Amino acid sequence: MGTKILGTGIYLPEKTLTNADLEAMVDTSDEWITTRTGIKERRIAKEESATDMALEASLQALRNAQVEAKDIDLVVLATLTPDKRFPSTACLLQASLGVKNLFSFDISAACSGFLYALDLADAYIKAGKVERILVVGVEKLSEIVDWEDRSTCVLFGDGAGAMVISSSQDESDVLASKMYSDGEFWNILYADKCGYIRMKGKELFKLAVRSMESVCKEVIQMAGLGTEDVDLVVPHQANIRIINSLADKLGIPKEKVFSNIERYGNTSAASIPIAFHEALSAGRIKRGDTVLLTAMGGGLTWGATLLRY
Ligand code: UT7
Repeated sequence: MGTKILGTGIYLPEKTLTNADLEAMVDTSDEWITTRTGIKERRIAKEESATDMALEASLQALRNAQVEAKDIDLVVLATLTPDKRFPSTACLLQASLGVKNLFSFDISAACSGFLYALDLADAYIKAGKVERILVVGVEKLSEIVDWEDRSTCVLFGDGAGAMVISSSQDESDVLASKMYSDGEFWNILYADKCGYIRMKGKELFKLAVRSMESVCKEVIQMAGLGTEDVDLVVPHQANIRIINSLADKLGIPKEKVFSNIERYGNTSAASIPIAFHEALSAGRIKRGDTVLLTAMGGGLTWGATLLRY
Protein backbone atom coordinates (compact mmCIF):
# COMPACT_ATOMS: atom_id res chain seq x y z
CA MET A 1 0.00 0.00 0.00
CA GLY A 2 1.48 3.36 -1.05
CA THR A 3 0.67 6.97 -0.18
CA LYS A 4 -0.14 9.40 -3.00
CA ILE A 5 -0.27 13.18 -2.73
CA LEU A 6 -3.44 14.18 -4.59
CA GLY A 7 -3.58 17.94 -4.08
CA THR A 8 -2.44 20.90 -2.02
CA GLY A 9 -3.87 24.28 -1.01
CA ILE A 10 -2.90 27.35 0.97
CA TYR A 11 -4.39 30.39 2.61
CA LEU A 12 -2.53 33.59 3.47
CA PRO A 13 -4.31 36.52 5.15
CA GLU A 14 -4.50 39.65 3.03
CA LYS A 15 -2.98 42.01 5.61
CA THR A 16 0.78 42.43 5.13
CA LEU A 17 3.10 43.67 7.87
CA THR A 18 6.35 44.96 6.33
CA ASN A 19 9.73 45.53 7.95
CA ALA A 20 9.03 49.26 7.57
CA ASP A 21 5.82 48.80 9.61
CA LEU A 22 7.86 47.05 12.32
CA GLU A 23 10.39 49.89 12.37
CA ALA A 24 7.53 52.05 13.66
CA MET A 25 6.64 49.52 16.37
CA VAL A 26 9.98 48.41 17.90
CA ASP A 27 13.66 49.39 17.81
CA THR A 28 14.59 47.51 14.63
CA SER A 29 15.47 48.14 11.00
CA ASP A 30 14.68 46.65 7.61
CA GLU A 31 18.44 46.18 7.20
CA TRP A 32 18.77 44.10 10.42
CA ILE A 33 15.74 41.93 9.70
CA THR A 34 16.68 41.34 6.06
CA THR A 35 20.33 40.48 6.66
CA ARG A 36 19.75 38.39 9.83
CA THR A 37 16.63 36.51 8.69
CA GLY A 38 15.81 37.08 4.98
CA ILE A 39 12.30 38.25 5.92
CA LYS A 40 10.82 41.32 4.21
CA GLU A 41 7.16 40.98 5.19
CA ARG A 42 4.69 38.62 6.84
CA ARG A 43 0.91 38.14 6.77
CA ILE A 44 -1.30 38.90 9.76
CA ALA A 45 -4.77 37.43 10.30
CA LYS A 46 -7.30 40.05 11.37
CA GLU A 47 -10.78 38.56 11.27
CA GLU A 48 -9.68 35.03 10.38
CA SER A 49 -9.45 32.33 13.04
CA ALA A 50 -7.06 29.40 12.66
CA THR A 51 -10.11 27.31 11.67
CA ASP A 52 -11.08 29.84 8.96
CA MET A 53 -7.58 29.75 7.47
CA ALA A 54 -7.43 25.95 7.68
CA LEU A 55 -10.81 25.74 5.93
CA GLU A 56 -9.73 27.90 2.98
CA ALA A 57 -6.50 25.94 2.50
CA SER A 58 -8.37 22.63 2.81
CA LEU A 59 -11.05 23.59 0.28
CA GLN A 60 -8.34 24.51 -2.24
CA ALA A 61 -6.46 21.25 -1.57
CA LEU A 62 -9.68 19.22 -2.00
CA ARG A 63 -10.46 21.01 -5.29
CA ASN A 64 -6.94 20.40 -6.60
CA ALA A 65 -7.14 16.76 -5.49
CA GLN A 66 -10.60 16.37 -7.04
CA VAL A 67 -11.76 14.81 -3.80
CA GLU A 68 -15.00 15.70 -2.03
CA ALA A 69 -14.81 16.55 1.67
CA LYS A 70 -17.29 13.75 2.42
CA ASP A 71 -14.74 11.21 1.12
CA ILE A 72 -12.10 12.17 3.72
CA ASP A 73 -11.62 9.52 6.45
CA LEU A 74 -9.29 11.43 8.75
CA VAL A 75 -8.24 15.04 9.43
CA VAL A 76 -4.82 15.52 11.06
CA LEU A 77 -4.11 19.17 11.84
CA ALA A 78 -0.83 20.56 13.15
CA THR A 79 -0.86 23.82 15.09
CA LEU A 80 0.55 25.51 18.15
CA THR A 81 -2.14 28.19 17.99
CA PRO A 82 -5.43 26.27 18.26
CA ASP A 83 -8.57 28.41 18.37
CA LYS A 84 -9.60 26.78 21.65
CA ARG A 85 -7.82 24.77 24.32
CA PHE A 86 -10.33 22.13 23.34
CA PRO A 87 -12.00 20.86 21.21
CA SER A 88 -9.26 20.49 18.64
CA THR A 89 -9.00 22.81 15.66
CA ALA A 90 -9.28 19.64 13.54
CA CYS A 91 -12.78 19.06 14.95
CA LEU A 92 -13.71 22.70 14.32
CA LEU A 93 -12.42 22.30 10.76
CA GLN A 94 -14.49 19.14 10.33
CA ALA A 95 -17.60 21.11 11.37
CA SER A 96 -16.74 23.91 8.91
CA LEU A 97 -16.29 21.36 6.14
CA GLY A 98 -19.74 20.02 7.06
CA VAL A 99 -18.72 16.36 7.04
CA LYS A 100 -19.29 13.38 9.32
CA ASN A 101 -18.18 9.73 9.47
CA LEU A 102 -14.50 10.50 9.98
CA PHE A 103 -12.15 11.22 12.87
CA SER A 104 -10.08 14.34 13.47
CA PHE A 105 -7.34 15.41 15.85
CA ASP A 106 -4.60 18.01 16.36
CA ILE A 107 -0.88 17.47 16.62
CA SER A 108 1.34 19.71 18.73
CA ALA A 109 4.92 19.65 17.48
CA ALA A 110 5.46 23.37 16.80
CA CYS A 111 7.34 24.06 13.54
CA SER A 112 7.76 20.32 12.87
CA GLY A 113 4.00 19.82 13.23
CA PHE A 114 3.18 19.36 9.56
CA LEU A 115 5.92 16.76 9.08
CA TYR A 116 4.78 14.89 12.21
CA ALA A 117 1.20 14.99 10.85
CA LEU A 118 2.25 13.76 7.41
CA ASP A 119 4.37 11.00 8.95
CA LEU A 120 1.43 9.79 11.03
CA ALA A 121 -1.01 10.07 8.13
CA ASP A 122 1.35 8.07 5.91
CA ALA A 123 1.53 5.37 8.61
CA TYR A 124 -2.30 5.21 8.87
CA ILE A 125 -2.51 4.72 5.12
CA LYS A 126 0.28 2.16 4.94
CA ALA A 127 -1.39 0.25 7.81
CA GLY A 128 -4.52 0.05 5.63
CA LYS A 129 -6.67 1.78 8.28
CA VAL A 130 -7.94 4.68 6.15
CA GLU A 131 -7.98 5.70 2.49
CA ARG A 132 -8.04 9.48 2.27
CA ILE A 133 -6.55 11.95 4.72
CA LEU A 134 -6.59 15.74 4.93
CA VAL A 135 -3.31 16.91 6.48
CA VAL A 136 -3.24 20.57 7.57
CA GLY A 137 -0.72 22.98 9.08
CA VAL A 138 -2.15 26.27 10.35
CA GLU A 139 -0.91 29.07 12.60
CA LYS A 140 -2.19 32.34 13.95
CA LEU A 141 1.13 33.25 15.56
CA SER A 142 0.31 36.97 15.60
CA GLU A 143 -1.87 36.20 18.65
CA ILE A 144 1.03 34.80 20.71
CA VAL A 145 3.79 37.15 19.55
CA ASP A 146 4.95 39.70 22.12
CA TRP A 147 4.80 42.79 19.89
CA GLU A 148 7.20 44.61 22.23
CA ASP A 149 9.94 41.98 21.94
CA ARG A 150 12.01 42.87 18.87
CA SER A 151 13.99 39.62 19.08
CA THR A 152 10.91 37.56 18.17
CA CYS A 153 8.15 39.81 16.80
CA VAL A 154 9.94 40.37 13.50
CA LEU A 155 10.10 36.64 12.76
CA PHE A 156 6.60 35.22 12.66
CA GLY A 157 3.53 35.29 10.42
CA ASP A 158 0.10 33.68 9.96
CA GLY A 159 -1.19 31.26 7.34
CA ALA A 160 -2.32 27.75 6.48
CA GLY A 161 -1.40 24.93 4.13
CA ALA A 162 -3.20 21.65 3.40
CA MET A 163 -2.54 18.43 1.55
CA VAL A 164 -4.90 15.61 0.54
CA ILE A 165 -3.24 12.20 0.49
CA SER A 166 -4.67 8.82 -0.36
CA SER A 167 -3.83 5.13 -0.43
CA SER A 168 -2.64 3.80 -3.76
CA GLN A 169 -1.54 0.54 -5.32
CA ASP A 170 1.24 2.47 -7.07
CA GLU A 171 4.65 3.17 -5.64
CA SER A 172 4.45 5.44 -2.58
CA ASP A 173 5.16 9.16 -2.85
CA VAL A 174 6.65 8.94 0.67
CA LEU A 175 10.01 7.20 0.29
CA ALA A 176 11.32 7.67 3.83
CA SER A 177 10.50 9.66 6.92
CA LYS A 178 12.05 10.10 10.36
CA MET A 179 10.93 12.26 13.30
CA TYR A 180 12.72 13.15 16.55
CA SER A 181 12.16 15.14 19.73
CA ASP A 182 14.25 16.12 22.73
CA GLY A 183 12.25 17.68 25.57
CA GLU A 184 15.43 18.50 27.49
CA PHE A 185 15.66 21.61 25.32
CA TRP A 186 12.04 22.72 25.86
CA ASN A 187 13.07 26.14 27.20
CA ILE A 188 14.90 27.22 24.04
CA LEU A 189 11.58 27.94 22.31
CA TYR A 190 8.32 27.97 24.27
CA ALA A 191 5.23 29.94 25.29
CA ASP A 192 5.64 31.73 28.66
CA LYS A 193 2.97 31.94 31.40
CA CYS A 194 1.15 34.65 29.47
CA GLY A 195 1.29 32.54 26.32
CA TYR A 196 3.91 34.67 24.52
CA ILE A 197 6.69 33.15 22.39
CA ARG A 198 10.11 33.14 24.08
CA MET A 199 13.21 32.03 22.24
CA LYS A 200 16.96 31.64 22.70
CA GLY A 201 17.69 32.41 19.06
CA LYS A 202 21.43 31.80 18.88
CA GLU A 203 21.28 28.36 20.54
CA LEU A 204 18.29 27.38 18.44
CA PHE A 205 20.05 28.42 15.25
CA LYS A 206 22.95 26.02 15.82
CA LEU A 207 20.69 23.16 16.94
CA ALA A 208 18.43 23.70 13.92
CA VAL A 209 21.23 23.39 11.38
CA ARG A 210 22.82 20.41 13.14
CA SER A 211 19.62 18.42 13.69
CA MET A 212 18.16 19.01 10.22
CA GLU A 213 21.47 18.15 8.55
CA SER A 214 21.62 14.86 10.44
CA VAL A 215 17.99 13.80 9.89
CA CYS A 216 18.11 14.77 6.19
CA LYS A 217 21.15 12.57 5.66
CA GLU A 218 19.37 9.78 7.54
CA VAL A 219 16.22 9.77 5.36
CA ILE A 220 18.23 10.03 2.14
CA GLN A 221 20.21 6.99 3.26
CA MET A 222 17.03 5.15 4.36
CA ALA A 223 15.73 5.55 0.79
CA GLY A 224 19.01 4.20 -0.62
CA LEU A 225 19.72 7.52 -2.36
CA GLY A 226 22.42 10.19 -2.25
CA THR A 227 22.14 13.97 -1.82
CA GLU A 228 22.79 14.33 -5.58
CA ASP A 229 19.44 12.56 -6.19
CA VAL A 230 17.47 15.31 -4.43
CA ASP A 231 15.75 17.60 -6.98
CA LEU A 232 14.39 20.11 -4.48
CA VAL A 233 14.65 20.78 -0.74
CA VAL A 234 11.57 22.40 0.82
CA PRO A 235 12.74 23.32 4.32
CA HIS A 236 10.89 24.94 7.19
CA GLN A 237 11.15 28.70 6.69
CA ALA A 238 12.64 30.01 9.93
CA ASN A 239 15.70 31.94 8.75
CA ILE A 240 17.36 32.18 5.32
CA ARG A 241 20.76 31.80 6.99
CA ILE A 242 19.65 28.47 8.53
CA ILE A 243 18.37 27.34 5.11
CA ASN A 244 21.63 28.33 3.39
CA SER A 245 23.82 26.69 6.07
CA LEU A 246 21.78 23.50 5.80
CA ALA A 247 22.16 23.46 2.01
CA ASP A 248 25.94 23.99 2.34
CA LYS A 249 26.28 21.19 4.90
CA LEU A 250 24.27 18.81 2.70
CA GLY A 251 26.26 19.86 -0.37
CA ILE A 252 23.05 20.77 -2.19
CA PRO A 253 23.24 23.87 -4.45
CA LYS A 254 21.03 26.84 -3.57
CA GLU A 255 19.09 26.49 -6.85
CA LYS A 256 17.73 23.22 -5.48
CA VAL A 257 16.38 24.82 -2.32
CA PHE A 258 12.97 26.52 -2.15
CA SER A 259 12.37 29.58 -0.02
CA ASN A 260 9.51 32.03 0.35
CA ILE A 261 10.57 33.36 3.77
CA GLU A 262 10.94 36.86 2.29
CA ARG A 263 7.14 37.12 1.92
CA TYR A 264 5.74 35.17 4.86
CA GLY A 265 8.36 34.91 7.63
CA ASN A 266 8.13 31.89 9.91
CA THR A 267 4.62 30.41 9.86
CA SER A 268 5.61 27.40 12.01
CA ALA A 269 3.43 24.35 11.19
CA ALA A 270 2.07 26.07 8.08
CA SER A 271 5.46 26.84 6.58
CA ILE A 272 6.21 23.55 4.80
CA PRO A 273 2.77 22.99 3.23
CA ILE A 274 2.69 26.63 2.05
CA ALA A 275 6.20 26.34 0.57
CA PHE A 276 5.43 22.94 -1.00
CA HIS A 277 2.27 24.28 -2.65
CA GLU A 278 4.08 27.36 -3.98
CA ALA A 279 6.98 25.25 -5.30
CA LEU A 280 4.45 23.01 -7.10
CA SER A 281 2.53 25.99 -8.51
CA ALA A 282 5.76 27.59 -9.72
CA GLY A 283 6.73 24.40 -11.58
CA ARG A 284 9.72 23.83 -9.26
CA ILE A 285 8.32 20.34 -8.45
CA LYS A 286 7.25 17.99 -11.24
CA ARG A 287 5.89 14.45 -11.12
CA GLY A 288 8.78 12.05 -10.55
CA ASP A 289 10.94 14.58 -8.65
CA THR A 290 12.65 13.65 -5.40
CA VAL A 291 11.73 16.28 -2.81
CA LEU A 292 13.23 16.59 0.66
CA LEU A 293 11.13 18.21 3.41
CA THR A 294 12.73 19.08 6.74
CA ALA A 295 11.81 21.07 9.84
CA MET A 296 12.92 21.89 13.35
CA GLY A 297 11.06 23.68 16.13
CA GLY A 298 9.93 23.97 19.72
CA GLY A 299 9.96 20.82 21.81
CA LEU A 300 12.54 20.50 20.51
CA THR A 301 11.14 18.57 17.59
CA TRP A 302 12.64 17.88 14.20
CA GLY A 303 12.31 15.56 11.26
CA ALA A 304 12.64 14.97 7.54
CA THR A 305 10.51 13.32 4.86
CA LEU A 306 11.76 12.28 1.44
CA LEU A 307 9.13 12.26 -1.30
CA ARG A 308 9.11 10.95 -4.86
CA TYR A 309 6.31 13.22 -6.02
O1 UT7 B 1 10.98 27.96 13.82
C1 UT7 B 1 11.73 27.33 14.80
C2 UT7 B 1 13.13 27.48 14.52
N1 UT7 B 1 13.52 28.85 14.71
C3 UT7 B 1 14.78 29.15 14.56
O2 UT7 B 1 15.52 28.26 14.24
C4 UT7 B 1 15.28 30.54 14.83
C5 UT7 B 1 16.75 30.46 15.07
N2 UT7 B 1 17.41 31.72 15.39
C6 UT7 B 1 17.53 32.75 14.52
O3 UT7 B 1 16.99 32.71 13.44
C7 UT7 B 1 18.41 33.90 14.92
O4 UT7 B 1 19.10 33.58 16.10
C8 UT7 B 1 17.63 35.24 15.13
C9 UT7 B 1 17.19 35.80 13.80
C10 UT7 B 1 16.46 35.03 16.03
C11 UT7 B 1 18.57 36.28 15.76
O5 UT7 B 1 19.72 36.46 14.97
P1 UT7 B 1 21.18 36.46 15.63
O6 UT7 B 1 22.14 36.73 14.57
O7 UT7 B 1 21.32 35.16 16.39
O8 UT7 B 1 21.12 37.70 16.57
P2 UT7 B 1 21.25 37.79 18.17
O9 UT7 B 1 20.05 37.23 18.84
O10 UT7 B 1 22.58 37.26 18.59
O11 UT7 B 1 21.27 39.33 18.36
C12 UT7 B 1 22.34 40.14 17.85
C13 UT7 B 1 22.06 41.59 18.20
C14 UT7 B 1 21.78 41.80 19.69
O12 UT7 B 1 22.33 43.04 20.07
P3 UT7 B 1 23.73 43.09 20.85
O13 UT7 B 1 23.52 42.30 22.11
O14 UT7 B 1 24.72 42.44 19.92
O15 UT7 B 1 23.93 44.55 21.06
C15 UT7 B 1 20.27 41.90 19.73
O16 UT7 B 1 19.81 42.66 20.83
O17 UT7 B 1 20.90 42.04 17.50
C16 UT7 B 1 19.97 42.59 18.42
N3 UT7 B 1 18.63 42.35 17.93
C17 UT7 B 1 18.02 43.18 17.07
N4 UT7 B 1 18.40 44.33 16.52
C18 UT7 B 1 17.55 44.93 15.66
C19 UT7 B 1 17.81 41.29 18.17
N5 UT7 B 1 16.66 41.44 17.50
C20 UT7 B 1 16.77 42.61 16.81
C21 UT7 B 1 15.92 43.27 15.92
N6 UT7 B 1 16.35 44.43 15.37
N7 UT7 B 1 14.70 42.80 15.57
